[in-house]
Amino acid sequence: MTAELSLRDEIQSVLQEFRSSLGAASTEKELNDLRVHALGKNGKLTGLSKRLGKLPADERKEAGQLVNQAKSEAERGIDEKRQHLAREALQAELDSEWLDVTLDSRGGAIGNLHPVTQIQNEIEDVFISMGFEVLDGPQVETDHYNFEALNIPADHPARDMQDTFYLEDGNLLRTHTSSIQVRGMTHLKPPFKIIGPGKAFRCERIDASHETSFHQLEGMMVDRDINLAHLIYFKQTLLSRIFGREQVTRLRPGYFPFVEPGLELDIQCQICVGKGCAVCKYSGWIELLPSGMVHPNVLRAGNIDPEEFSGFAFGLGLDRLVMMRYGIEDIRHLHRADLRFIEQFG
Ligand code: DAH
Repeated sequence: MTAELSLRDEIQSVLQEFRSSLGAASTEKELNDLRVHALGKNGKLTGLSKRLGKLPADERKEAGQLVNQAKSEAERGIDEKRQHLAREALQAELDSEWLDVTLDSRGGAIGNLHPVTQIQNEIEDVFISMGFEVLDGPQVETDHYNFEALNIPADHPARDMQDTFYLEDGNLLRTHTSSIQVRGMTHLKPPFKIIGPGKAFRCERIDASHETSFHQLEGMMVDRDINLAHLIYFKQTLLSRIFGREQVTRLRPGYFPFVEPGLELDIQCQICVGKGCAVCKYSGWIELLPSGMVHPNVLRAGNIDPEEFSGFAFGLGLDRLVMMRYGIEDIRHLHRADLRFIEQFG
């Protein structure tokens, strides 16, 4: 056996021992010990390279290469194992700290429609089922659409009851949805049936039943030979569909410049059941559905010939309707944006 052969065997056995220790090592400290054991000052591979000098020159070169290969395998093995251990430690830490960021800590609150929006949707459905078309109109109106065309000229006393907010350009916040009738007449050819829901505004003294901003729904039907019986039929259908039962109502004459004759339909106050309270101004009745036969001047302003066509119109206070249906005693609840109130209608 030559000296070279026995050195080669020794290198193999040192490497074998190293490899199995490396496989078993599971801590940084064990890796450090292994490095010292193999590559340190008194390490096994270091010892082998010290012996190279004693070999004959012709064997030294090849033996030197073998020892160097063994050393670099040991270096690389320890480095790779160190990285492997670090990755494992990181993964263990990540697993133990796993956090589900998709969980909703607020419990997934789902909102609901405001009761005024709900009742508006219901009324739209009732009228659509009877062949009415739903129209929209601007909240900022011209004097013409809000007053003039509705038979309320500038010097008419009815303007006092509908004071509103004026813009610098002379336009105004519409005081009622009746402006939508006029816009409807000028766009549609009779016969037609329309409703126009929306916000209206007035310069009001705020109390339990008055707000500066509120909601209305306008209705209008124009055809040949329309009379009061048609109007009363549609009113009754609406009320029984909305309240789900017969209401105690009364009809009385009412004055509005844009209808002739004009009618007020009142329903018995649901808050006090007719006894009298702040909501009904102690009368026991609530004005719910003002209406009438469209005034010839209004038809003319809408380019409709009053000799050929006639029509009825009505206006409905949506806030008031919500208050009556649910027994709400103060209109201000509807505008307070208090979730405790709105959530009751979910
Ligand atoms: N525009 C009226 C108001 O806000 C309500 C009204 C009355 C509408 C009679 C109508 C109507 O269409 O015929 O006070």
